[in-house]
Amino acid sequence: MANIAVLGYGTVGSGVVEVINTNHDIVNKKAGEDIQVKYVLDLREFEGDPVQKILVHDFDIILQDPDVDVVVEVMGGVEPAYTFVKKSLQAGKSVCTSNKELVAKHGAELLAIAKEHNRNFLFEASVGGGIPIIRPLNTSLTADEITEITGILNGTTNYILTEMAEKGAAFEDVLKDAQDKGYAERNPEADVEGYDACRKIAILTSLVVGEQVDYEDIHTEGITKITEKDFQYAKALGASIKIFGTSKKIDGTFYPLVAPVMIGGNHPLFGVNGVFNGIFVHGNVLDDVMFYGRGAGKLPTASAVVSDVVDAVKNKDSNIKTIWEQKKYTVGRFEELPNRFFVRVKDNGNQDAIEKTFGEVRYVKAPEVQGEIAFITDTIKEGEFAKRIAALPDVYSVIRVDL
Ligand code: HSE
Repeated sequence: MANIAVLGYGTVGSGVVEVINTNHDIVNKKAGEDIQVKYVLDLREFEGDPVQKILVHDFDIILQDPDVDVVVEVMGGVEPAYTFVKKSLQAGKSVCTSNKELVAKHGAELLAIAKEHNRNFLFEASVGGGIPIIRPLNTSLTADEITEITGILNGTTNYILTEMAEKGAAFEDVLKDAQDKGYAERNPEADVEGYDACRKIAILTSLVVGEQVDYEDIHTEGITKITEKDFQYAKALGASIKIFGTSKKIDGTFYPLVAPVMIGGNHPLFGVNGVFNGIFVHGNVLDDVMFYGRGAGKLPTASAVVSDVVDAVKNKDSNIKTIWEQKKYTVGRFEELPNRFFVRVKDNGNQDAIEKTFGEVRYVKAPEVQGEIAFITDTIKEGEFAKRIAALPDVYSVIRVDL
């Protein structure tokens, strides 16, 4: 028998208990052992919920119980999750987590501690919710030189952008509607400012390069400045606007970026809509591969966590090697990253100024929009673009383009 303890009885934690109860025969068969939830740790009481029987408020009870084999950390945030996870691993317990803040910040160190104690630190649910992507990067995609990993990594913002595209609605209105439906947090900053996607692309890039990519080094832009007018132009181009977490290898170095991007119908992520996530990987021998599914939500996320529990139980006394060293990886300088840009400016009769600044550009018309000029630049490095756009007056909008 394998005993697990779940830290945090929120959406994901209660999902983990539900998945283990609902699918116990399947899960036990795959694990080769009977998996029991021995403890749930939470500060709250849950009167009337059967979880009350196994509820504890003191982490030390779990830490000091030698019968607990696997700790599931689904509390979120860096502390106290980091302390609890570290102590659990040091006490010889494997840990499975969905916590992207924790993994992005301390993943390499926690993997090293797990290895030292011949246990496992597993984090499939930290990126893409129920979509398998961590395990594929660690096991299935190891024959390739990966040159790009690009994802729609945040369900909340993908829902908002999809609604804006389909309904022609304003960002603020869609956000409010998403909050009312429970798709967006009351404090939506981490999602709409791109911070959540930033941590996820930091984790993915770290796994691709095998070293520590600090999320603080990743240029991150959110979706708060995207307007209905931007979508009117996108529609005229047969395009859509998505927020990507992306990392491309250029001349041997990865350049991670989180930003909204205008993409055409032939882009592999074009059809990823609503709360769904999609992750596109390009390898030099595999070519393109796509991962698609529910990137958030109670049961999809719990499904990924429980699959980690199964792996942890299957590998009770052996460490699954994951290449992610603590050595810092130096990402490519953002200013050197080449991109194309969609730009909207006030129509001051300034076509000459635009062409003097950017050379030949492609003009874009949206039938509904008057009084402005929109164009797409040729490929230009971010630093150079920033300098040139600063010289143009009355800029309404700038969005990167992959058409
Ligand atoms: N807020 C996140 C999202 C949850 O919307 O994708 C899953 O990490």
